[in-house]
Parts: sequence; C-alpha cells; structure tokens
Amino acid sequence: MAVVDLRSDTVTRPTRAMRQAMADAEVGDDVYGEDPTVRALEDSVAELIGTEAALFVPTGTMANQIALKANTKPGDEVIIGKDAHLWRHESGALAALAGAQTQMLPDHRFTAAEVKAAFKSDSDPYVSPTRIVAVENTHNMAGGIVWDRAQLAEVTSAAHALGMITHLDGARLWNAAVATGAPEKELAAGFDTVSVCLSKGLGAPAGSLVCGPRDVIRRCHRLRKMHGGGMRQAGILAAAGVHALAHHRARLHEDHANARALAEALAGAKNLAVDLSRVHTNIVMIDVLHGTADAVIGVAREDGVLLGAAGPHRIRAVTHLDVDRDGVLRAARVIAEIATSFG
Ligand SMILES: Cc1ncc(COP(=O)(O)O)c(C=O)c1O
Repeated sequence: MAVVDLRSDTVTRPTRAMRQAMADAEVGDDVYGEDPTVRALEDSVAELIGTEAALFVPTGTMANQIALKANTKPGDEVIIGKDAHLWRHESGALAALAGAQTQMLPDHRFTAAEVKAAFKSDSDPYVSPTRIVAVENTHNMAGGIVWDRAQLAEVTSAAHALGMITHLDGARLWNAAVATGAPEKELAAGFDTVSVCLSKGLGAPAGSLVCGPRDVIRRCHRLRKMHGGGMRQAGILAAAGVHALAHHRARLHEDHANARALAEALAGAKNLAVDLSRVHTNIVMIDVLHGTADAVIGVAREDGVLLGAAGPHRIRAVTHLDVDRDGVLRAARVIAEIATSFG
C-alpha cells in the first residue's frame, strides 16, 4: 500500500512535466547575472508580490535571513510572533548571521497595540533598538493559520509610524492568497521585504525568493554571495519554480479541502482533539489527549502513514500535491484507530 506522507508539504517530488521544464530550461551563469530563466522567475515573482525586485535564493531560510540582515545592524531587535519560523527553525541564524535579537510577542498573530508597546527607540542607549517587525503568513507552527487583512494593515502601519521596517515570511503566502481570495500582492502590501518559497505547497524541488525595493535587493544580492548562495546554472531550478507558479498555485485549494477532510474525520475521534476553527489552509494540528505524539507517530509509520510532531502531545499533518483525498482519509482512519487504542 502506498505511503501517505503528511510530514510536510516539502516532501513532494517534481512531476514529470516539471522535470521536463527543468531539462528544457535555458540557462547561463547566474553569478554573472546571465541566467535568463532565473531573471524571468525573479521578474514574475516581483510582479506577483508587488515589489520592485526579487532575488532567487536556494531556501526560505536564506530568503528570510538575508532580508533581515540587509535591514539590521548587530544588536538591533526584531519583533516576532510566537514560534516564528525565522526564530525557532532557522538554526539560530538571526543571532549568528545578523547578530540581531528577537522580542517574541505572546501569540502567533499580534496587534498594532502590542507592536507599539514592544517598540524600543534607539534614543535610549540601554536598550536594543527595535528595527523590524516580522510577520509569518500563513503561520506554520500555529497550524497554517491566515492573518486577518485589517489586522495586518494595522500592524504594518503602526510599525512604519514608529520608523520600523516590516518583513513578511511568506513561505506559504500562496496558501494564504488562496484561502482568503486576496491576491498575493494585496497580502504583501505594507511589507518592505517579503520571502516566498517555491518548494512547499508549490512542489518545486528547491528555491525561494526575497522580494523588496531595488536597493534592498541589491544588498541581499551581496549577502546571498557572502552566505554561499550564489548558484551558477540555477535556471534548472528556476524553471521548476516557473512551472510551479503556472501549474500548482491555483490547485492549492485542493490541499486545503483535503486538510479540512482530515481534520473533520479526526475531530470526533476518541482521544484526539482538533480545533476546526484553526484549519485555514493545508496544515492540521492534532492533539493527543492520552499518550504522546511520538508514540502515535511511531505506530502510524508502521501502517504507512508519516506524520510530524509539533510538541509532546501535538501531531502536525500537512497536505500537498502528492497526497489525494483517499490518502488523507486512510491516514485519518489509521490515526483514529491508534489513538483509540491509547485512550
Ligand atoms: C514559515 C516558514 N518559513 C521559512 C521556512 C524555511 O524554508 P527552507 O526550509 O526552504 O529553508 C519554512 C520551512 O518550512 C517555513 O515553514
């Protein structure tokens, strides 16, 4: 029986058509600025996000970290929401590479009032001056939840009024756009820099972009080289991104419907809790009431269902291009059966 891999939307394998597009890509040396496919991808993503420029980088981590480094000095502070990926899951890069510190607000999504209260001005030599407010949309560790647009606008204008810079970790901005019906550029409005990933729901094997004003992207270009991210015939990878944007963006609603089907199938199951009001996109958080997440995950693996732990009693399941409705319903049956036996 086929394995149902719900560990992440990063586990997808390039489709045959994507591989063909990669094989056919026109390429050049991108460190010399000579790769036409990379250029085309950068131009089209800048257009989609509504920024002056965009830069192709290998990973979402690099996109976030060079954008943050480009706009901070060592000792500066970045305001983040709870469990922001750029703090929790990027190997300490913000501290190691930018030398910035973080101030984490209590919730994943936060308000303009919280930003104003957290802000510290550089007029006080005792404090770390707050330079950047970083938002994650959708928010991974919160279960793929989407920000309210009015709240986003309030946060970004409060930050700008205080002279701060705004950064959007939009690794899954595509999912937020599909879930809200608002185009990506509307969700990115108000942000000075934006990172987006091609290797999550869009199904490309690698690649992210950092988007922003031309002068900031020029600084990011240097930082990409400094951090070892200057790739040569990168058009092979960029072609996968071009293909993903053309063919896999509009279908993300299928992943969202599959996530909802999984969540609904598990919501009433014995020994499990799923908050359906927080299933906005392609991620489902499943709480195990008796027993640990790892114990359930271990048994599910033997039954061909792969899941990730998001805490000692919390399982994270992510839908994507390589799982269909039958797959998620089989996963739901397996998870419910295991949880019942633990309950
Ligand atoms: C919200 C978010 N931002 C950034 C990243 C980093 O992407 P990458 O794994 O390509 O470095 C991820 C990866 O899962 C993510 O979920």
